[in-house]
Order: sequence, then structure tokens, then C-alpha cells
Amino acid sequence: MKGIVFTEFLELVEDKFGLEVVDKIIEQSNLPSQGVYTAIGTYDFSEMLGLLKHLSEHTQLSIDDLLLVYSEHFFSVLASSYPGLIDKYKDPIELLSSIENHIHVEVRKIYPDAELPTFEVLEKSESKLVMIYKSSRAMYNFGLGLMRKTFEHFDSTAHISLEKLKPDGTEVKFSIVKTNE
Ligand code: HEM
Repeated sequence: MKGIVFTEFLELVEDKFGLEVVDKIIEQSNLPSQGVYTAIGTYDFSEMLGLLKHLSEHTQLSIDDLLLVYSEHFFSVLASSYPGLIDKYKDPIELLSSIENHIHVEVRKIYPDAELPTFEVLEKSESKLVMIYKSSRAMYNFGLGLMRKTFEHFDSTAHISLEKLKPDGTEVKFSIVKTNE
């Protein structure tokens, strides 16, 4: 997992819960990196799981809720770091249906070792998108937050439902229906 995911995560934790909590979860997680991350470095995904688990224990928020909050913050980071990728789109459904064939393809050019999910589009129209998320990392709630923020970015709204196709969340079907216009 790329360092930018860790650096932004720890910054958000510091903002919301304070530096003490950052220090505490780093200490409790016994990290090979010792919690020292650079944005362009690559670190084991298990480090993120450790940090999330301890933050969850500390805050009484579920890992799913933490991922949702974090993804909303991460969208702003992506939008300001890669405006060219997002500005190409005028519509949230166009953007979301292009993650697999365009956006994450470009991400892989920037970070060849990025660990990205796959999204398979099953159904697409002007107002509806159905796609399957697959990833060994089961970060579907991170995807949900990014999807919600994508609609907000375009001043649009949607109803997004998800159905786990595998109980561990490594395969999830998203049904997205635009609710405005
Ligand atoms: C400009 C737009 C975007 C950029 C630059 C971008 C870039 C990235 C980067 C750098 C990572 C981390 C990879 C790693 O740590 O190795 C990532 C992960 C991820 N991205 Fe994107 N992304 C974008 C848009 C989106 C959108 C709109 C979604 C919505 C579904 C999405 C879904 C995900 C998910 C779910 C992950 C977590 C990894 C996993 O589940 O396996 N991305 N993306």
C-alpha cells in the first residue's frame, strides 16, 4: 500500500483525535516501519489493518465507519493532487465507470506497485451504474466513500447500495442510482 495512504490517514487521525492518539496507535500496532512513512514509499497493507484496528478500539468506531470517513478525506487529497484526472469528467457515472479503464490505469503509471481493486461494470446507463468491486483488501467502504464524494464533487446525488458477494468483503456489488435531474 502506498505511503500517501498512510501519511494522509495519520494526518486525519491527528486532526480528529490528536497527536497522542496517533502515537498510541503506532505504538500499539508494532509496525515494521515504526510508523515512519513517506508519500512515495510502499508499505505492507497489514500495517494499515493494525492502525485501523487500534484506532477502532480507541474510538469505539467500527473499521467500516473509519474507512468511510477516511475515504471522504482521501477524495479531497486525490482531487487536489490529480486535478487533471478528475476534470476530464463532467458526470459522476462517467467517472466511476472509468476507474478501471482510465483512472487507476493512470495511477499505475505513477505508482507501478500500487495495490488497486478491480471494478467490473455490469450495467451502465445515464442514471444507473452497477459494478463489482474485487480486492483482497476488502476496502469496499473506502470505495463507497469515494463514490459518495464523487457525486458531491459534481453537485449531484445518488442512492448507493452494496451487496457482499463474499462474506469477507473481497467481492462486493455496488448499485448506484442517480437521484437528481
Ligand atoms: C483521481 C482519482 C483517483 C486516484 C488518483 C486514485 C488513486 C488511488 C491510489 C493511489 C490508491 C492506493 C493504492 C495503494 O495504496 O497501493 C487507490 C486505492 C483505491 N481506490 Fe482509487 N483513485 C481514484 C479514484 C477512485 C474512485 C473514484 C474510487 C471509487 C470507487 C476508487 C477506489 C479505490 C479503492 C476502493 C482503493 C483501495 C484499495 C483496494 O480496495 O484494493 N478510486 N486509489
